[in-house]
Amino acid sequence: MTNFLSVKDAGNIEELIASAKDFRTNPLKNSSIGKGKRIGLVFLNPSLRTRLSTQKAAQNLGMEAVVFNASQDGWSLEFEEGAIMNGTTVEHIKDAAPILGRYFDVLGIRTFPSLKNKEEDYSEYVMKQFVKYAGIPIVSLESATVHPLQSLTDIITLTDYLPIQNKTKPKVVLTWAPHVKPLPQCVANSFCEWITTWDKCEFTIAHPEGYDLDKSFTGNACVTNDQAQSLNDADFVYVKNWSSYKDYGKILQPVHNWMLTNQKLATTNNAKIMHCLPVRRNVELSDEVLDSKNSLVTEQAANRVWAAQAVIAKILNHMQ
Ligand code: CP
Repeated sequence: MTNFLSVKDAGNIEELIASAKDFRTNPLKNSSIGKGKRIGLVFLNPSLRTRLSTQKAAQNLGMEAVVFNASQDGWSLEFEEGAIMNGTTVEHIKDAAPILGRYFDVLGIRTFPSLKNKEEDYSEYVMKQFVKYAGIPIVSLESATVHPLQSLTDIITLTDYLPIQNKTKPKVVLTWAPHVKPLPQCVANSFCEWITTWDKCEFTIAHPEGYDLDKSFTGNACVTNDQAQSLNDADFVYVKNWSSYKDYGKILQPVHNWMLTNQKLATTNNAKIMHCLPVRRNVELSDEVLDSKNSLVTEQAANRVWAAQAVIAKILNHMQ
């Protein structure tokens, strides 16, 4: 593995899951593989879980992890080729990224989409320029369109509860949830891409009209606007908001009754509930669901360490 930008870089997903679980059992089993190496974790956007879990993962491998909150502490970056920089941006990515490439052995980058320019966001305009100019392995800590470390974590968490009795494939439902702000499609895109590539589940996506995701991520998944029907016999329900892809970055007309409640979950197969966090309580998910014994949200966040450790270890192995 050279870069880890999406499921396309994952290689054998089963092997990555097994590696992550090995690290969960024995966090320091490869504690010298990263000795003398540094990982720069560059955040252009806020983060709690990604920042801390990746830092911990790198440290478990013997690496020094340096977190750089670029959006707060760094110079404002310019990404446009040929830009006349007489505005608010101070430093071009062509100048900044090669320096990061000299300071570090591996670079983790967190960037969000603008949610204004679909073509630019979906071309991974920002992430691709870090890859192009840094010259060292890049790990996506979430980009404009995907969040691969989150999706790997989600699958690791899901496998902890398999197999489901009397089923060859568990039923997994990704359901849209309301939110007060327009959010990226990254987590949903990425979850779809990983689940369909892994191909071990019966997968349904439920969302209100107008919230269809980009088909290049959803593949052959079953898509419905009927949340109640989607939940029937579900074993796992992944809850996530995203803004419209078609009417790009917009919250469409107010959508009522999509927040998940225990009443709605009554028709599921005692489903486990997943969310990447942070979550807006009683907007996206009710307290009763989040605080129930079926909620896996803390386990998901805890597994972020082992997913990151498996990925960084694979990159370090490739460098040796
Ligand atoms: N799920 C996730 O990526 O959380 P953070 O934004 O806190 O990193």
